[in-house]
Amino acid sequence: DTRVGISLTINGQHRELQVAPWTTLLDLLRETLDLTGTKKGCDHGQCGACTVLVDGVRVNSCLALAVMKDGAEVTTVEGLAGLSNGGAGSNGLHPMQAAFVEHDAFQCGYCTPGQLCSSVGMMNEGHAHSRDEIREAMSGNICRCGAYTNIVDAIEDVMA
Ligand code: FES
Repeated sequence: DTRVGISLTINGQHRELQVAPWTTLLDLLRETLDLTGTKKGCDHGQCGACTVLVDGVRVNSCLALAVMKDGAEVTTVEGLAGLSNGGAGSNGLHPMQAAFVEHDAFQCGYCTPGQLCSSVGMMNEGHAHSRDEIREAMSGNICRCGAYTNIVDAIEDVMA
């Protein structure tokens, strides 16, 4: 057996896991842990649908090997609300999720978990103070429906 033991904190929950060395963080989340909110679009770092937060920093989980994240704290879309400490969002949502709802910042919704994790990560990074900067900072997250105007509206609302 070539599997390797790693420990991760996922959405606040400590997990001891056995993973193959080639398993991506994305496949671990979706296939092993049933956290299917995180989406697989391209599986090679082009679309951003698989974005999650690793120690507060946004990461394309399709490009990250799970073994390399041993000891890390991972937040997926399922855990975003828990980050906001019952803050400003309505219905128990993270404020960014609430803003996406309010601004209709999606059509089909496939890219939305990645857009949300990426926008929260972008806020942690502390840049993006104008629409142009937000567009630039979010350029790794593709939306095939072209909902970009509403996505930027939602993010601006939270940053304001
Ligand atoms: Fe990871 Fe597209 S699935 S960037």
